[in-house]
Amino acid sequence: MKIQIINGPNLNLLGKREPGIYGNQGFESYFEDLKRKYTDVDLYYFQSNVEGEIIDKLHEIGFSFDGVVMNAGAYTHTSVAIADAVAAIKTPVVEVHISNVYAREEFRHHSMMAKNCKGVITGFGMMSYELALKSFMP
Ligand code: DQA
Repeated sequence: MKIQIINGPNLNLLGKREPGIYGNQGFESYFEDLKRKYTDVDLYYFQSNVEGEIIDKLHEIGFSFDGVVMNAGAYTHTSVAIADAVAAIKTPVVEVHISNVYAREEFRHHSMMAKNCKGVITGFGMMSYELALKSFMP
């Protein structure tokens, strides 16, 4: 099984960024933990702060991979273009958030892409990614 994890803007700063909200672990070390735990899954990780690069990655893997676990960061709430890319590809996407977006500012309550996703997981810290990964398992 081939699964792509995509992190959007500012998520390269995990571990340093607002640790009270996003925790103390950087994503690279969490990704290593995930790979050690799920050795039977081909896991790939991509992060970009650039909207078009996220779209290019969705196009690149979106007709051959089994699943995408995507935290589009703030683009979740604003990007018609990423939402369209999610709708355009064949590979199912699970939207994830580290924080519980519904317990935060009103502008974080709406996702442009959720309706094009297989599901949404929000508020379980880094475990949100693992729960999304498990949703692709038989
Ligand atoms: C986030 C929530 C978004 O509202 C925010 O812009 C982020 C991170 C989360 O993982 O909780 O960058 O997607």
